[in-house]
Amino acid sequence: MCGIVGYVGTGSAKEMLLAGLSALEYRGYDSAGIALVRKGKLLVRKESGKLRALEAKVTGSDFDSRLGIGHTRWATHGAPTRENAHPHVSGDGRVAIVHNGIIENFMELKEELILEHGVAFASETDSEVIAHLVSLYYEGDLVEAVRRAAKRMRGAYAACVVAADDPGKIVAIRKDAPLIAGMCEEGGLLASDIPALLKYTRDIYLIENNEIVVITKQDVEIYDEERTRMNRARTHIDWDVAAAEKGGYEHFMLKEIYEQPKGVRETLAHRLDESGAIQLDDLGFTKEWADKLERIYIVACGTACHAGMVGKAMIEKYAKIPCETCLSSEFRYSDPIVNERTLCICISQSGETSDTLEALREAKRRGAEALSIVNVVGSSVARASDHVFYTWAGPEIAVASTKAYTTQLVSLYLIALYLGLLRGRATEAEAGALLAQLAEVPALIEDVLGREDSIRALARQHYKKEKIFYAGRGTDVATAEEASLKLKEISYINSYSIAAGELKHGTIALITRDVLFFALATQTKLYDKMLSNIEEMKARQAQVVAVAKASDARVAEVADDTFFIPDCSDEVAPIVAIVMFQLFAYHVAKFRGREIDQPRNLAKSVTVE
Ligand code: G6P
Repeated sequence: MCGIVGYVGTGSAKEMLLAGLSALEYRGYDSAGIALVRKGKLLVRKESGKLRALEAKVTGSDFDSRLGIGHTRWATHGAPTRENAHPHVSGDGRVAIVHNGIIENFMELKEELILEHGVAFASETDSEVIAHLVSLYYEGDLVEAVRRAAKRMRGAYAACVVAADDPGKIVAIRKDAPLIAGMCEEGGLLASDIPALLKYTRDIYLIENNEIVVITKQDVEIYDEERTRMNRARTHIDWDVAAAEKGGYEHFMLKEIYEQPKGVRETLAHRLDESGAIQLDDLGFTKEWADKLERIYIVACGTACHAGMVGKAMIEKYAKIPCETCLSSEFRYSDPIVNERTLCICISQSGETSDTLEALREAKRRGAEALSIVNVVGSSVARASDHVFYTWAGPEIAVASTKAYTTQLVSLYLIALYLGLLRGRATEAEAGALLAQLAEVPALIEDVLGREDSIRALARQHYKKEKIFYAGRGTDVATAEEASLKLKEISYINSYSIAAGELKHGTIALITRDVLFFALATQTKLYDKMLSNIEEMKARQAQVVAVAKASDARVAEVADDTFFIPDCSDEVAPIVAIVMFQLFAYHVAKFRGREIDQPRNLAKSVTVE
């Protein structure tokens, strides 16, 4: 996803924009640019590559300005060249825009602009149409021009617009892509993400879909699409810049892996009262409603969907409601069986993933009640939901998700238990037992973290492998999926995950002596079956590393190597075991010299379909 910033005030626009963009660097980008308004003219500089390249091009007093917009681009339409970098400018050089998202009808608009208005396009991007449309509609009122342009655009966008003829303001619009605004002593600010503004203000305005926001050096004005002024309370951000910094760790990912005990503790602390009972009353679930629930869908993408796989098991175990976990991208087009007796649980770290947002809307259209589990306060998914359960992971910066996952798991356990108690399907004793185990989880994770050296040694031994398999049974399947995804994302190794019982139906054909095979054996009732799977793999000469609980005396006799996680219940094992695999993926990627926090081709949040 692209990063956007805007600034107007008394300070140096160039400095403010570059600082904002550098705070968004973690999201990954392949070109960057800024547009400044100076002495009635637009000054645009853009470069492919890193911010450093842009910084080098905007030195000197020529770039002294009080108003401007900036962008870091993650290429979608058109290669990451300077021409395709934002800002894009209208033909007369008087209007500049930056955009995050996708204009779905850009071909149609482009054709119209070329054929009917003789516009010449300078880039291959969909975004450039915005600059030309605004310029076409500009008759001295920038807000009106932007409003008219937005009415022509289909798709997802957060866009900031400046005009050389209207040098006191920035006008921005949003639909299905994040946009926030804020005021600081030096003026007004716009950005796609909170970290860009944190250095200047912690009180931000969340812009809603189809709203227009105008920032000047004194004010933030928000309008609906008919240009009626909206009142908006500010949202206070209580995490600070340090939470979005590496704090001595070599990578954000490693820092975030180490923050998991804290994230789990905080997530629990926010949802357990003084007596230790689960507190979800703010969600407004009643016994009557819960009793009538017929089905739960969990929808999510990537890592969040793996959390959903474990969530399904917990919901069925404790709440006894049929539950299905679906990929958001499949759910929204699958004609799901949803009615007023359906609960749709959307899981999303960023709360901005387009597929998940659309899946949520589809479920609501069909009558479902929507509960979201999100990390980013005030994000689009949170706002579109009927109820929100926030994970308390703190900002997650590394593209590969770690602490969001473990806090999502804890959240799902609490929701499953709460629904079970509400429906009278889980007993107080069961609840007490699971809550006691959850309370142990931070210490169990710390135990795994304390063995990073041996995980690093394992990574050193295997980092050159080209085929790595992860298999398990029961909830270990979800752990295998997530472990494999972590490895793929940051090491680029060809890695597979599978339910171990399925190996013999085809995949076993791939097992040879050069395969590293992780066998997860944390689920008691499936344990013997897993040992048989290990034997099968050994018979095909794969190198098997078992991951099992500390008091397991048998597995070491069959596997080539064993990594022991501390003894814990089968229920919480997914939260503990994944930490070992996160560290394994991290060290393999490091031995391979990969860009760990910003892996190739990936973005932290995917706001396009
Ligand atoms: C992207 C990220 C993944 C993440 C997925 C869902 O693909 O790279 O790490 O799991 O989106 O993101 P969300 O913010 O909805 O949890």
